Amino acid sequence: MSLISKLRCALTLGQGVLLSLPEPKGNEDPFTLFGDWFKQAEKSGIVLPESMTISSIGADGRPSARVVLLKDFDEKGFVFYTNYTSRKGQELDLNPVACLTFHWNILQRQVRIEGRVERVSHEESNQYFHTRGRGSQIGAWASQQSQVIAQRSLLEQRVEHYKQKFSNKDVPLPDFWGGYRVIPDSIEFWQGKADRLHDRFRYTCDAKGWKADRLSP
Ligand SMILES: Cc1cc2nc3c(=O)[nH]c(=O)nc-3n(C[C@H](O)[C@H](O)[C@H](O)COP(=O)(O)O)c2cc1C
Repeated sequence: MSLISKLRCALTLGQGVLLSLPEPKGNEDPFTLFGDWFKQAEKSGIVLPESMTISSIGADGRPSARVVLLKDFDEKGFVFYTNYTSRKGQELDLNPVACLTFHWNILQRQVRIEGRVERVSHEESNQYFHTRGRGSQIGAWASQQSQVIAQRSLLEQRVEHYKQKFSNKDVPLPDFWGGYRVIPDSIEFWQGKADRLHDRFRYTCDAKGWKADRLSP
């Protein structure tokens, strides 16, 4: 971590308990609030503020969770990229609902986002894939994500294979790789406060738009 990031961390430490969530006014826009919080998390010096836990549900109803990186968000939803044949990919295709959780520890903030999930368009995945470094592009081809692999050298052999295959060429987007968008119908903001009397506001969406309710901590 750079010195400036460390200083930012030190300055922000404990700030969470001093902050209150703005009282909802009735016609709320949780995306603006999320954007404000995300910017503050980026400025705070937290490492990887864009990391979030995505929970999915398997065919047997059993939940599973793992960390991924948020790559884009707007009113359409929250986007991350992965291997579509991975465990999460299979679970999200079978049962297209998910929960995302952010924890910005030094700000004492948590955000929970729930909703349905869709694959992003091929164009969107393709555009994003080509912003990645060549090493990550080859890595996406080489990794059969979530499958058992006998030894690391097999992965390294696959990397070599794809390096040769695409030498002197653009690495194309694999058809088994791309983005998912979580389209929220519920977004809960949690602000840590003293004596466990935290602020919690849950924004839910129906045909009339978004409304906010305060929840007991
Ligand atoms: C900080 C961090 C960021 C990660 N970002 C991603 C990501 O954006 N996409 C991804 O597929 N896996 C990412 N991973 C790896 C996943 O947590 C997970 O191991 C992998 O996707 C396989 O999950 P699955 O077997 O449940 O499908 C990340 C892990 C960490 C710790």
